[in-house]
Amino acid sequence: MLITNYMSSSRGALPTKVSLSGKTAVVTGSTAGVGYAIAKGLALAGAKVVVNGRKALAVDEAVAKLASDVAPVSGMAADVGTAEGCAALVAAHRSADILVINAGIYGSQDFFDITDAEWTRYFEVNVMSGVRLARAYLPGMLQRYWGRVLFLSSEWALDIPVDMIHYGLTKSALLSVTHGLAKRVASTGVTVNAIMPGPILPSSETRAQQERKDLCLTMEETLAAFEVKHRLRSTLQHTATADEVANLAVYLCSAQAAGTTGELLHVDGGLVETMA
Ligand SMILES: NC(=O)c1ccc[n+]([C@@H]2O[C@H](COP(=O)([O-])OP(=O)(O)OC[C@H]3O[C@@H](n4cnc5c(N)ncnc54)[C@H](OP(=O)(O)O)[C@@H]3O)[C@@H](O)[C@H]2O)c1
Repeated sequence: MLITNYMSSSRGALPTKVSLSGKTAVVTGSTAGVGYAIAKGLALAGAKVVVNGRKALAVDEAVAKLASDVAPVSGMAADVGTAEGCAALVAAHRSADILVINAGIYGSQDFFDITDAEWTRYFEVNVMSGVRLARAYLPGMLQRYWGRVLFLSSEWALDIPVDMIHYGLTKSALLSVTHGLAKRVASTGVTVNAIMPGPILPSSETRAQQERKDLCLTMEETLAAFEVKHRLRSTLQHTATADEVANLAVYLCSAQAAGTTGELLHVDGGLVETMA
């Protein structure tokens, strides 16, 4: 792929507000959680958003909610953890100016129990989805001299949890992809970055219940316990929310962020310590 010189007279100009009007954004895993918040943030900024998830019903519900709350969006049910799912997404939505690789799976499992098939599944969903979709959408971005690729990594890419080595590996791998890809497309108007959130405050009762050790806890007590468990080491001493992650994502996808590439940005309340 030929990368021609990128020279823009607008470099360094100061747009007054974030506007993604005229840009198309594909956000993987965006029917819930962080992905939904990012899809909503991008739509609020004027982007034409493509919402994705595996379940068609959840995609339809997210599309309807965003249409009612923000603006019309498109939806595509596809498992981006497979080559076929990625190809189907690209076939349905051939061009993107903004690609947010958010879909990711996680779960606690001891190193001695996790099978080869599970290692492969984690790698396929968390890493290969990004590799395949970036490979598909980047050529169009390079032709247009404008594009944003954003990977959702994790604080646990650096501070590997003992019960989630398999997850930590995939999130570390995304940092390598981010660094390398940013260099590969340097000086083209396309940026590649990664966000590393800390544990995010559960946004729904269902997700909060996964954190509940004592079923007698109220939702408020559950959230307070989550913060104590996850955030005592952080400067702010509170967990990030999906919306806080989305705010950084929208900025990184904006024209204003043209000078930021190959970066790994934290939304973790300011960790006092990371790796031991
Ligand atoms: N939550 C945290 O505390 C946290 C912290 C740091 C980093 N992160 C990272 O942030 C990202 C989002 O996390 P989250 O907690 O918001 O996730 P989540 O709530 O589990 O997100 C679920 C979304 O991903 C979709 N999804 C899952 N597997 C998919 C696949 N193979 N293909 C397409 N869509 C898929 C789900 O839809 P379907 O079920 O219909 O497929 C749904 O839209 C992940 O990459 C995660 O590793 C999360």
